[in-house]
Amino acid sequence: MEASMPKRKEPGKSLRIKVISMGNAEVGKSCIIKRYCEKRFVSKYLATIGIDYGVTKVQVRDREIKVNIFDMAGHPFFYEGTAQLCCLIVVWRITPVTSEPQVRNEFYKDTQGVILVYDVGQKESFDALDAWLVEMKQDLGPHGNMENIVFVVCANKIDCAKHRCVDESEGRLWAESKGFLYFETSAQTGEGISEMFQTFYLNILDVCEHGGKRPATNSNASFTKEQADTIRRIRNSKDSWDMLGIKPGASRDEVNKAYRKLAVLLHPDKCVAPGSEDAFKAVVNARTALLKNIK
Ligand code: GTP
Ligand code: MG
Repeated sequence: MEASMPKRKEPGKSLRIKVISMGNAEVGKSCIIKRYCEKRFVSKYLATIGIDYGVTKVQVRDREIKVNIFDMAGHPFFYEGTAQLCCLIVVWRITPVTSEPQVRNEFYKDTQGVILVYDVGQKESFDALDAWLVEMKQDLGPHGNMENIVFVVCANKIDCAKHRCVDESEGRLWAESKGFLYFETSAQTGEGISEMFQTFYLNILDVCEHGGKRPATNSNASFTKEQADTIRRIRNSKDSWDMLGIKPGASRDEVNKAYRKLAVLLHPDKCVAPGSEDAFKAVVNARTALLKNIK
């Protein structure tokens, strides 16, 4: 099944799209939307109950886009048993709901854009992004297609530099390896917010103007899955042996062989994946450290 997209329209005509925000509780979803739509920041935490719904108009190129924004609650409470009720409350505000079991599927259906948010100072919120995608995929059902939905990842709260624990290359690598847009944002200072929304809407417009399909140039990451996985593995390695992917006590030859393989894969001249330069340096250092101690 193709993702349902608005019908192709003549340039200049207005377009209606549906956008949803997703991510753990307190990562700043509502504040990002508020910062963009109302140009203000609320420092007091007011948890979203169920889903907040709003409509806004934006001008992108020569098109007026009417955006229906569904701002979801991140608290797990709303996804355990009460989810249908919460969705029901919101959807009911737009169109009368006739059959309750379909409400949840109906909610994710016909979405053109997703804003995925995590807090750069909260590793769990970054690690949870995969689960949010799984949740959406499950709810769209076996025929649901997420390929043509535009996803933007917001690494939010970058103003809190002291508490940052997910760095830019880690977030960017996750996003870009999935073909998602990536932006560093702060709802508090406004940094990155309008750039993020502008690029997000431009990408959605491109999809709509290509008959609901993502243009080929936007959908492929410029690095391989093997490169992305290797960078992640290197980041999480516990020592130099582990980093080179060899057993402790391996010979000089084995160290050099493992090093060469990684160097070819990650050399900055060949690999543009976020974090490749640091990973390459770490591999060089690991090799040097190991060879020092092997006779
Ligand atoms: P739920 O509705 O519970 O899912 O949370 P949410 O993701 O919508 O978070 P919300 O926007 O309500 O923000 C949570 C808290 O983080 C609030 O106290 C905000 O003031 C704060 N906050 C949001 N964005 C930022 C930011 O960029 N920087 C800082 N320093 N605080 C932020
Ligand atoms: Mg909220």
